Amino acid sequence: MSAPSPAVSSATPPASRLAGGLADRLADPGLFIERAFIGGAWVGAENGATLSVDDPATGAAIGTVPACGTAETEAAIAAAEAAWPAWRARPAAERADLLERWYALMMENAADLARLMTAEQGKPLAEAMGEITYGAGFIRWFAGEARRIDGLLLPAPTADRRILVQKEPVGVCAIITPWNFPNAMITRKVAPALAAGCTVVIKPSELTPYSALALVALAERAGIPHGVINIVTGLAPAIGAALTASPVVRKLSFTGSTAVGALLMRESAATIKRLSLELGGNAPFIVFDDADLDAAIAGVMASKFRNAGQTCVCANRIFVQAGIHDRFVERLAAAVRGLTIGNGFTPGVAIGPLISPAAVQKVGGHIADALALGAENVTGRNDDVDPQRFVSPVVLTGATAAMRVAREETFGPVAPVFRFDDEDEAVAAANDTPFGLAAYYYTGSLSRGFRVGEKLAFGMVGLNTGSVSLEVAPFGGIKQSGLGREGGPTGIDEYLALKTMHVGLTA
Ligand code: SIN
Repeated sequence: MSAPSPAVSSATPPASRLAGGLADRLADPGLFIERAFIGGAWVGAENGATLSVDDPATGAAIGTVPACGTAETEAAIAAAEAAWPAWRARPAAERADLLERWYALMMENAADLARLMTAEQGKPLAEAMGEITYGAGFIRWFAGEARRIDGLLLPAPTADRRILVQKEPVGVCAIITPWNFPNAMITRKVAPALAAGCTVVIKPSELTPYSALALVALAERAGIPHGVINIVTGLAPAIGAALTASPVVRKLSFTGSTAVGALLMRESAATIKRLSLELGGNAPFIVFDDADLDAAIAGVMASKFRNAGQTCVCANRIFVQAGIHDRFVERLAAAVRGLTIGNGFTPGVAIGPLISPAAVQKVGGHIADALALGAENVTGRNDDVDPQRFVSPVVLTGATAAMRVAREETFGPVAPVFRFDDEDEAVAAANDTPFGLAAYYYTGSLSRGFRVGEKLAFGMVGLNTGSVSLEVAPFGGIKQSGLGREGGPTGIDEYLALKTMHVGLTA
C-alpha cells in the first residue's frame, strides 16, 4: 500500500483561514484544523475534494474538511501498520505516561474543545464542557488500565510443563464514531486501544470532525508518536468500505445506528475482524408508585433532555404507575416548560438545535403520529425558534404501544408517558423491544429494586438514577443494541488477544 500524494501536507496543522470564524472564538486558534492526519502529516484529500461542515443552529458553513476516500484510508491503515511494532513494544508505563499527558492537555484546552463542539454539534456550551470532562476521563482511566495488563500462569497437568497466558494488542483498529458525542465516543475507543498497544485509524462523523481533529492535535502535542493515531475525514461509504475490507485492520469499533452496525458486521465478515458495536436503544424509564418523586423528575430530566434527547441511552419511553401518574406528569410538564431553547452558545440555553433538518423532520413525525393516535401535548410551548432546526421539548401523555414513539428511537426532546397498573405489566412493556441498551427505574423498595433489575433485559440498568455513563463502569447493550463493552475494568480487553504459551521443561 503506498501513501497518496496529498494536496497539502504539513507537520503542524495550518491555522484557520477564516477570519472572524470559529478559530477567532478559540484561545488557541491552532485547534481549529481543516485537514486529515495520516502518518504524522496534516493532509488534504489526494484530489483536493472537500466537504462543508455547517453550524446546526443556523445552517451557516463553519469550514471544510478533506473528503477522503479509499486512497487516503489505505494510506492511514499503512501508517498505523508501520507504527504498530514500535508502539506495542513500548513498556506499558510509557504508553500510560503519554495518555496522561494527552489527558492533561485536554483539560487545559477544555474551553476551546467545548466551543468547537457547540459550534459543530449544537449542544449547549455547559453540556459540551461536561462532555470534555467525560471524554478526558476515559483517557485517564485507560492510562491506569495500561499499567494493569496482566497474564495467567495456569496449573499444568504434568510436572514438566508450564502454561502461561499473555495478553497482546490485537493490532490496527478502525474507530468509527458518531456526531452526538464528538469527543467522548472517540476517547472511549482510542484510549483503550492505545493503552493496549494498538494503533488506530479514526473516521469521525462528517458532521462533527473538528472536535476529533483537535483531539488528535492534542495527542500529537502530548508526544504520541506519528502513525499511532490517524484520522480520515469524509463520507462513510468509501472510508468504511476500505476499513472493513483491509486484512490489516484487525478490529473495528463503532458507535451508531443498528442498521449501520449490521452493515459493518457483514462487511467485516470476510476478514473475521473483532467487533465492538454500540448501537441503537429504546430505553424505558419506569416510575413506580413508591418512588421518590423529586428524584424521579430530576432523573428523567437528566436522562431525557441531555443533548436535546440525542443520545442512545436517553429515556425513550416513560412508564408511570397509575397512583403517581398525574402528579408526575404535572411536575414533568412544569420542568419541561422551564427549559430554555436556543443557540448553544447563549448562556442558560438547555436545549440546542437538532443535528440536521432531517432529524427535525423525523422527530416531528413521531410527535404527529402520537397526537394522531390519541396522545395529548401537555407542555403547550410556542417557542420563537427556526422550525427547520429546533424542536421544542414536549411531554405527551396517553402514549401507547401502537405509536412510533414506543417502537423507534426518537432521538429528540420528546417525553412520551405511558400509564401502567402493576409491576409485571411495566416490566413486560419495558422489555418489548428488540433493543437492550439502557433502562431506568425508580422505586423506594429494595426488594423490588433487585427483582425488577434482574428482569429488565438491558445491558445497563439505572435504579433510582437517570445516568449510566461513567468511564469506570462497563457501557454497552444486548440484543440489537450491540456487542462488547466500553469503559470500566473490562474495556481494555476488547483490544487485547490472549496468547497461550505451552512450555515443555525438557531442556
Ligand atoms: C451515545 O449516545 O452513543 C453515548 C451516550 C453516553 O456515553 O452516555
